[in-house]
Amino acid sequence: MLLHWLIALLIIASFALGVTMTDIPGITPTKLKYFSWHKWLGVTILGFACLRLLWRLSHAAPAYPAGMAAWQQKAASGLHQLLYLLMLAIPVSGYFYSLAAGVPVVYLGLVALPVLIDPAPELKMLLKTVHYALNMTLLGAVGLHVVAAMKHHFIDRDGIFKRILPLR
Ligand code: HEM
Repeated sequence: MLLHWLIALLIIASFALGVTMTDIPGITPTKLKYFSWHKWLGVTILGFACLRLLWRLSHAAPAYPAGMAAWQQKAASGLHQLLYLLMLAIPVSGYFYSLAAGVPVVYLGLVALPVLIDPAPELKMLLKTVHYALNMTLLGAVGLHVVAAMKHHFIDRDGIFKRILPLR
């Protein structure tokens, strides 16, 4: 539960910052600062997403309610797997995009993270597109995830949404 809401908040912040910073024309000190914050947020998300994946692999999720249709259970599991994949793939694509652009990442301005590839202009363009496309997929997947949660809460009233609330 803690990781779910922590990662959700960090993803919203990182997404909003990503859109804001790329909308700033030219190269300004503010834009460069936002790029750094965006990268630090993204690397933090990657760390928490790895923790969350390890947690999920070692702790099975609670079973779905008995009355939930089989296709809905499959759709929910598929969507959750996609969300795990995106939580990992988006930061990784951003990290390699930064390296391909020749800008190593210094986490919080303190820790130089590994430079795993040399600068590569063509790869840079490809990874920029991949980072963008994965983010748009995330937008759709999160939208569906929220709509499904609200349907369970307000229409089915099956208690599924309450399971992720720490203060229920
Ligand atoms: C879950 C984590 C992340 C999310 C949700 C996210 C989201 C976004 C979004 C929405 C954009 C704007 C795309 C556009 O409109 O073109 C963006 C751009 C960018 N992201 Fe991320 N990002 C994440 C992680 C990272 C990481 C870890 C790095 C690097 C270490 C990174 C580096 C960048 C860079 C350099 C851009 C600017 C692309 C350009 O030059 O136009 N991102 N990101």
